[in-house]
Amino acid sequence: MKIKEIHFKDTFPVRHSVLRQGKPIETCFFDGDDSDTTTHFGLFDQENCVGVASIYKNKNTIFNNNEQYQLRGMAVLEEFQKKGLGEQLVMHAENYIRLTQGELLWFNARVAAVPFYERLSYQKIGSSFDIPDVGPHFLMAKEF
Ligand SMILES: CC(C)(COP(=O)(O)OP(=O)(O)OC[C@H]1O[C@@H](n2cnc3c(N)ncnc32)[C@H](O)[C@@H]1OP(=O)(O)O)[C@@H](O)C(=O)NCCC(=O)NCCS
Repeated sequence: MKIKEIHFKDTFPVRHSVLRQGKPIETCFFDGDDSDTTTHFGLFDQENCVGVASIYKNKNTIFNNNEQYQLRGMAVLEEFQKKGLGEQLVMHAENYIRLTQGELLWFNARVAAVPFYERLSYQKIGSSFDIPDVGPHFLMAKEF
């Protein structure tokens, strides 16, 4: 398994299968995907991308930190889940943020993924809220 930076379009097959199943492929494009300050990571089994994660330089006014990043599109193909690969992807993104002097990583986590992030020392902030068509989420964050 190897993690490398990929083009945003190369995240689409995994995003579609895991996060947007049954929805049009266009729903796999997220605002800011093509920004210079966005970085996309792919986790590869041989030549096959089996996991993706993207980080966006995006400030959430709830936090005071200047250098904030948002994690989005965190997904591992179902048959590759629960093998520690998601953790590897988050740790890779964290290393990138540390190298670029980032101060905070935040994201909206699906309720089902909250224990995964808590294990990686992210904290829930506030109450759960609904994202239409996706379901209940918690804002989560960690400072570096
Ligand atoms: C959330 C997600 C990215 C996590 O990726 P993953 O590769 O399954 O993550 P890990 O394997 O590192 O950890 C997941 C769980 O497997 C467990 N695990 C890790 N290695 C394991 C192993 N070898 N054997 C058994 N369990 C293991 C971890 O303890 C963890 O448990 P927890 O979630 O109860 O804390 C992935 O499950 C996914 O794509 N889910 C669907 C989409 C989604 O919800 N994305 C997040 C949106 S916010």
